[in-house]
Amino acid sequence: MEKLVIEGGRPLSGTIRIQGAKNAALPILAACIMAEGTHRIQNVPDLLDIHVMLNILRSLGCQAELVDGTVTIDTAPMHSAHIPEHLMRQMRSSIFLMGPLLARFGEVHVYQPGGCAIGERKINLHLLGLEALGAEVQEQGNQIVCRSGGLIGNDIVLDFPSVGATENIMMAAARADGITMIHNAAREPEIQDLQNFLNAMGAEIYGAGTDTITVKGVKRLQPVTYSVIPDRIVTGTIMIAAAVTRGSVTLENTNPSHLTSAIHALRRAGVQITIDGDIMNVSCHTRPKAVERIVTSPHPAFPTDLQSQIMVLLSLADGLSIIKETIFEGRFKHVDELARMGADIRVDQTNAYIRGVPRLYGATVEATDLRAGAALVLAGLAARGITVVEQIHHIDRGYDRIEEMLGRLGANISRIDTAANAPVWGGGAADKLVSEA
Ligand code: EPZ
Repeated sequence: MEKLVIEGGRPLSGTIRIQGAKNAALPILAACIMAEGTHRIQNVPDLLDIHVMLNILRSLGCQAELVDGTVTIDTAPMHSAHIPEHLMRQMRSSIFLMGPLLARFGEVHVYQPGGCAIGERKINLHLLGLEALGAEVQEQGNQIVCRSGGLIGNDIVLDFPSVGATENIMMAAARADGITMIHNAAREPEIQDLQNFLNAMGAEIYGAGTDTITVKGVKRLQPVTYSVIPDRIVTGTIMIAAAVTRGSVTLENTNPSHLTSAIHALRRAGVQITIDGDIMNVSCHTRPKAVERIVTSPHPAFPTDLQSQIMVLLSLADGLSIIKETIFEGRFKHVDELARMGADIRVDQTNAYIRGVPRLYGATVEATDLRAGAALVLAGLAARGITVVEQIHHIDRGYDRIEEMLGRLGANISRIDTAANAPVWGGGAADKLVSEA
């Protein structure tokens, strides 16, 4: 089993180029099937979730490969609209394929994606949206079958600005007959990236980034070459890594306008951030300050995907901070692990009360989900001593070799394979740990 071994206490420094956005690339790769032919999608990160999506597309008959950050995908040979259950179980984001498959084939067979560590992850808004476009949705056990003799544009109001539901409806509506308006739509930057991709293919979509999106259905879409936006959550994660290690890091290929709320919160905590186009410099040379209250909410508010990471910074701050998590009901699983490293955090339903401590201490901890795992790595970078993070496959879903990213910034971090009991990458901390074993 692979683990990350981190020797904390080293301020990060240097320059890093941010990877493409996982949460933009996944719906864009799904949308490729809406046009026959060969697409080239650039700036795609090399992640577990991306490879699962490519395997699903291959199972549907596509030819797809990722080489040096570019996915080349030929959708002409597609022959199926049935997503294999074992692949659906590997990644719930495969639900993004419902809209495109319905638009292309008039039919889609998927399985309930199920919940995950952070919450129930319902898909009722996806299904209601597709039904509003004229699809017939049948739930047979854990399988969902959608059929349509031809999608028809409609007015749709989302009870909650769900990112995935907004994307699924946008994609299905792009090939529907007539006009669709999506009200109370999600406003995340990844929605805008999907709109730009679909319009490059010949769709007519307006309003992404606002709470009302208008889609004028078209008959055909063409394959294109397109480059994915930078990953705002990886950007925020590295910014917080610089802050918790009292370092100074330059981040390239960023889009600061995608992180306004997070930048504001970090500045309130005393982190220095300078912005010059797509370059940000982040430094923190004094103890962070407590932030009275951070509330996670849909974009442009503070992103839930940075909640666990900023909690690490606040666990080292001078004073009491409160974080309220309003998006996912199970997104405080990192708290117990941080407490094992010396953090003083009390959870009361959706609120976490964080009383800052002078330092954290290395421990063996377990990643429970993608962003909680990233937070434990940040805690290990800041802690005194050695931290071992287990179950790191969660982290590999969203970070392209996190140990290499951080190692290049001066962190003493290694990936070891306990089966082989030798460092996979790095050395340093792993050698020390293995020698102490
Ligand atoms: C996307 O998930 C992201 N994933 C998540 O990132 C992110 O945390 C989330 O948006 C919120 O920003 C991808 O884009 C692949 P939602 P998604 O639909 O689309 C409820 C990461 O770490 N809901 O906006 O699943 C749901 O239960 C991941 O990169 C319904 O009730 O998020 C949740 O409480 C984690 N019914 C809330 O809405 C539905 O039909 C937010 O879900 C759909 C959602």
